[in-house]
Amino acid sequence: MKILHTIADVRDELKKARTAHKTIGFVPTMGYLHQGHLSLMERARQENDVVVISIFVNPTQFGQGEDLDSYPRDFERDSQLAETVGVDLLFAPPAQEMYPEGYTTYVEAEGSITGLLCGRSRPGHFKGVTTIVSKLFNIVMPDRAYFGQKDAQQVAVIQQMVRDLDFDIDIIPCPIIREEDGLALSSRNTYLTPQGRKEAVVLSQSLFRAKEMIESGEEDASKIRAFIIENIRSAKEADIDYIEIVNARTLQKIEKVQGDVLIALAVKIGKTRLIDNIRMEV
Ligand code: PAJ
Repeated sequence: MKILHTIADVRDELKKARTAHKTIGFVPTMGYLHQGHLSLMERARQENDVVVISIFVNPTQFGQGEDLDSYPRDFERDSQLAETVGVDLLFAPPAQEMYPEGYTTYVEAEGSITGLLCGRSRPGHFKGVTTIVSKLFNIVMPDRAYFGQKDAQQVAVIQQMVRDLDFDIDIIPCPIIREEDGLALSSRNTYLTPQGRKEAVVLSQSLFRAKEMIESGEEDASKIRAFIIENIRSAKEADIDYIEIVNARTLQKIEKVQGDVLIALAVKIGKTRLIDNIRMEV
């Protein structure tokens, strides 16, 4: 596995692959890799000749007072893990490489797709995501890019951006990888205290129970939402940011549970903000 730190080196390396008509699969990450990230790389490995990943804790997607400085980092471990799943090229630029002095250009998807859910509680977050992902797409120029359904809104925003800006890249959404007790894997789970870790299971449990309610015929979104809220409030350290039942493509709220449905939530457990969701065709 090659480890490169500059845009010029990545371009140079990938030019050879492209000339040889090799397909390129790309997985952007912020590092502190876990099985969720690795599952995307494994999928990319199956479907492409060359697998490229990036590790970059992108400062523009963190708001004031968020965890940019404390975001967990372990480059040694990450590069070993990436190598075990067959990654060919790891791009790990310093912040200066991506945002040099005098940087002024941003990519932003407007409207409800970025204004609702996480976009409402983290203003500017998706602008940072679409900006860095556009830059990475322009550098790597992959055939396919892999994103986790764990960040369901991020997938929808990236798909919108790719459509709007005519990126010639297939966006491949991949399933959420969970711990045995249901907690969705996240680099931020390391922030949880032992007590918080126990309580965090309430997020996925509520989603799974909501799914069962829907499967046994409940169609009223407000009833399901109320059920989830009540469930989550039973955890002492839980502080709800949002719980919404929306159309999975438009992210607009729905009243009747029907079609391509996404139940998405963000909850603080102690100081740690966790997100989770479940998507179902009803
Ligand atoms: P990061 O949080 O590191 O996640 C990188 C990718 O891994 C994302 O596509 C995310 O959805 C996926 N992922 C994380 N946890 C997962 C899980 N439990 N199951 C499946 N996939 C999971 O998302 C970002 O970084 C950044 O916003 C980025 C796209 C890299 C732009 O900076």
